[in-house]
Amino acid sequence: MCGITGYIGDNKTTDILIDGLKRLEYRGYDSCGIAVVDAKNALYLKRVSGRVDALDKLVAQEPVKGAQSGVGHTRWATHGAPSEDNAHPHTDCSGRVVVVHNGIIENYLDLKEKLLASGHKFKSETDTEVIAHVIEEKLKSLHVQEKAIRSDMLEPVFFEAFRRALAELKGSFALSVIWAACPNMVLAARMYSPLVVGLGKGENFIASDVSAFLKYTKRVVFLNDGEIAAVKKDGVDFYTFQGKKVAKESVTIQWDSTMAEKGGYKHFMLKEIHEQAESVENTLRGRLLPLGGNILKAEMGLSAEAIKSFSSVQFIACGTAYHAALIGRVLFENFGIPASADVASEFTDRAKLLGKGTLVVAISQSGETADTLFAVREAKAVGATVLAITNTVGSTLTREADHVLYTHCGPEIGVASTKAFLGQLAAIYLLAGHFAAARGALTSSEARSYAENLLKVPRLIEETLAQEKEIAKIAQGFASSEHFLFISRHVNYPIALEGALKIKEISYVHAEGYPAGEMKHGPIAIIYKGMPLLAVAPSGRALDLMAGNIEEAKARGAEVVAIVDEDSRKTVKASRYITLPKTEELFTPLLTVIPLQLFAYYVALAKKCDIDKPRNLAKSVTVR
Ligand code: M6R
Repeated sequence: MCGITGYIGDNKTTDILIDGLKRLEYRGYDSCGIAVVDAKNALYLKRVSGRVDALDKLVAQEPVKGAQSGVGHTRWATHGAPSEDNAHPHTDCSGRVVVVHNGIIENYLDLKEKLLASGHKFKSETDTEVIAHVIEEKLKSLHVQEKAIRSDMLEPVFFEAFRRALAELKGSFALSVIWAACPNMVLAARMYSPLVVGLGKGENFIASDVSAFLKYTKRVVFLNDGEIAAVKKDGVDFYTFQGKKVAKESVTIQWDSTMAEKGGYKHFMLKEIHEQAESVENTLRGRLLPLGGNILKAEMGLSAEAIKSFSSVQFIACGTAYHAALIGRVLFENFGIPASADVASEFTDRAKLLGKGTLVVAISQSGETADTLFAVREAKAVGATVLAITNTVGSTLTREADHVLYTHCGPEIGVASTKAFLGQLAAIYLLAGHFAAARGALTSSEARSYAENLLKVPRLIEETLAQEKEIAKIAQGFASSEHFLFISRHVNYPIALEGALKIKEISYVHAEGYPAGEMKHGPIAIIYKGMPLLAVAPSGRALDLMAGNIEEAKARGAEVVAIVDEDSRKTVKASRYITLPKTEELFTPLLTVIPLQLFAYYVALAKKCDIDKPRNLAKSVTVR
């Protein structure tokens, strides 16, 4: 969580830092700040409790001229309430060492106690502030007094104090640090939190992710854990925490900055819902035919022989990606391949039971979710092979996994995941198809029909989206409801969970997703007259039982909105219908989720919620 930026160069430092923060706001948005230094060593620091727009206005009232380096931060609170005092940047006692941080310093209380004992004064409740004071201590231990130091010694001394301070920190951190005495260098370091350096001409950038500076450069270097970047105007040097210089390759990012803009939609979420046909198309392109061949080998080193050798598949993921994982489990089991799916944060003891023959599939849009990364490390520690499904090139997950299957959805900015979910599903269907065909669970004609079904999906998504107005009308009718139920069965049960999650996160109402068959074992008791119940009931083997469960709910007063197709509509009796184009039952989740995303969007819109930045959340959850 939290977004950090850094800049050094001759352009408008404050504008670049603030623009970067706006693009990183999806990572956290309860307070923010920047600090910049000019060539005469004057430091300007501005912070606000609230959004980056407020910071922008504040900085515009007193513009800073001539700043040549600086750092910025947008916060998702972990230690200390969201407030101006707890907003980053944080400084040492002198107010000259300035730190922005993403992550958690686990030993901050120990460090703080020692620092207090030696006379340091703290101004915030954060874990981050200790870092500034530890650097101050290290500067002291190097016998540095800002005014007395030789100018050619500023950079080596700052670097050394920073490096020594890092050795004291335990936990996770991505840091960007300036020292007002040394405006010609910004230092950055990474341990378990993402950080990337952007390489410009006569200017360089630091950020939590590339979207912050894509407008200026697409040439980037991803830091690994345990690495430091010494960022100057004309170049960047990389070191280990031990101070050894490392040579690092840059990569060129293919996304452009307009891909991360709203393109005429009111919210990113709505734009991203509408980009789903394209997401599926992009994820499938060139990877589908022939199923079971060596397509995955060429792209990710997974040969048909390797595919045959796994005894089971274990999915791990969080949130929406976990719902994709649950569908993955159904698909693999459908082809007779033992599979399970776990929430990454609850995986700990299960990891120990993994055999070498298990393929662990870790799904993560960002590739930076701390719970998922931690579970991956545990799986690797017992010798499992890890395949990552992710949308983010260069993310930590891609570097830790043995194989990577990218979803090609483009940047997802809305905190509520939509198109990334469809991309994850497309990748999972692709993977399941290749596994089934390679292992003989699909004959060649079945494999062809499986592929044809998948290739039709983008067109069917467009047809589903064409019902947006109708869905919006239904949603508006329920905008004042405080409780929602979502039910389904079999391959659509995870879609019921996803429908409930979407409405919870963006509308702040209570919602539950349930396997329809479980309702009678307790939850049916919560139904009251007029309670909205969304039932996902396409044609297929689950339909008759679903129709019965819907009757049971109606008999207790539920107001049922049924997600059906032309055929299942004849079986299901509901007060409202959303009718989707027909496809085979196994493929229906690729469509049934869309009305639920739109439903959640329009309920949230009617409630005037902050749809792209819901309260208490962050897009990328980099803490455990
Ligand atoms: O980046 P990831 O896919 O690993 O993120 C996992 C979850 O944090 C994420 O899906 C979250 O649940 C979304 N806000 C849901 O819309």
